[in-house]
Amino acid sequence: MRVLVIGSGAREHALVSALRRDAAVSAVFAAPGNAGMVQRAQVRPVDPCAAEDVVALAAEVAADLVVIGPEVPLVLGVADAVRAAGFACFGPSAAAAQIEGSKAFAKDVMSAAGVRTAHSEIVDTPAELDAALDRFGPTWVVKDDGLAAGKGVVVTTDRSAARKHAAELLEQGHRVLLESFLDGPEVSLFCLVDGETVVPLLPAQDHKRVGDGDTGPNTGGMGAYAPLPWLDDATVTTIVEQVVRPVAVELVRRGCGFSGLLYAGLAIGAAGPAVVEFNCRFGDPETQAVLALLDSPLGELLHATATGTLAQVDRPRWRDGSAVTVVLAAENYPARPRVGDAISGVGEGALDDSAMVLHAGTAVRADGCLVSAGGRVLSVVGVGADLSEARRRVYDRLATIKLPGSHYRTDIGLAAVENRVEV
Ligand code: GLY
Repeated sequence: MRVLVIGSGAREHALVSALRRDAAVSAVFAAPGNAGMVQRAQVRPVDPCAAEDVVALAAEVAADLVVIGPEVPLVLGVADAVRAAGFACFGPSAAAAQIEGSKAFAKDVMSAAGVRTAHSEIVDTPAELDAALDRFGPTWVVKDDGLAAGKGVVVTTDRSAARKHAAELLEQGHRVLLESFLDGPEVSLFCLVDGETVVPLLPAQDHKRVGDGDTGPNTGGMGAYAPLPWLDDATVTTIVEQVVRPVAVELVRRGCGFSGLLYAGLAIGAAGPAVVEFNCRFGDPETQAVLALLDSPLGELLHATATGTLAQVDRPRWRDGSAVTVVLAAENYPARPRVGDAISGVGEGALDDSAMVLHAGTAVRADGCLVSAGGRVLSVVGVGADLSEARRRVYDRLATIKLPGSHYRTDIGLAAVENRVEV
């Protein structure tokens, strides 16, 4: 099987690496890819959002499967174009991708499907803002209604900070979603979805705030671990049966059945799981940890999803143990990250089973030096017999990597190791 992966982040690097472990995958191409993928994939400089160029590349490389990683091309309909050209494509249609592209659409689907989620209101104009804020709080959750790469969300007990964020979004012409605050530890459950067939992967937890102890602003994600020692299989089954499947069925009912990866972000409160958000693709950085533990052939699972035969393949098998991803971020991330600094200690982008270095915001300078080129620069993934060993491996590997001004969280997965549940 020849696979074309669309995207350039550490999530796509993890997808490329897992696909290379599948004996049935004979060639992997990535567009635009990144500096770390070159040993495992042939990278091509194609814009992921340029549907015609993606289709032309799929034809040129004779792809048997196209896997679209990021949400923006999905929301723009790149998967529709790829499928219309006759290629098997892992990723939902633009219509189904609205589950992430419009929070208002997602709320409507969840309401119709009877899925628990936060109470919410859409604010369209500054004139409505104060009265709407008064109906929420004292913890305010303010979201950009559209795509914002995880950074459009402010959760705060400070009404003026909530107001400032909402007013800024409205000034930029974005609709604002106000939500009631959902209590409880957060879980990311990724499910392969092919119409009404839903296959969960291992549950993971993301750490979204920039600083240790969940302090500072939200980011695209600073680290993750999987599986979750504090979440039992029965709760995963409850999430599939009471949350993901009803949403998949409702999307089919609306004529926009989902095909790809449906990501349920949930808070596990006293009354059970409630949805914080749905995403229409693999999450980053959880994917890097989840796929590190996958024992089944990834190409087969993704191809079956893309071709409507997911119900006919074996359920995913997992390695024993745990995996931890820690993101190495550039100075000043998540504000305006400093770029262009030399990175050392990454090696040749080589992967071994216990500590992998996956690239995201990297580039190779004309003199061959690896430099930072984005906010989240690398994802380092440690795998171990348990969470403590996985943490030790990831932090030992991180200690060998040097990037001036860079930072990373030192507490990814720590609460779970200490038998505390992170909220
Ligand atoms: N882990 C957060 C996201 O992928 O949106």
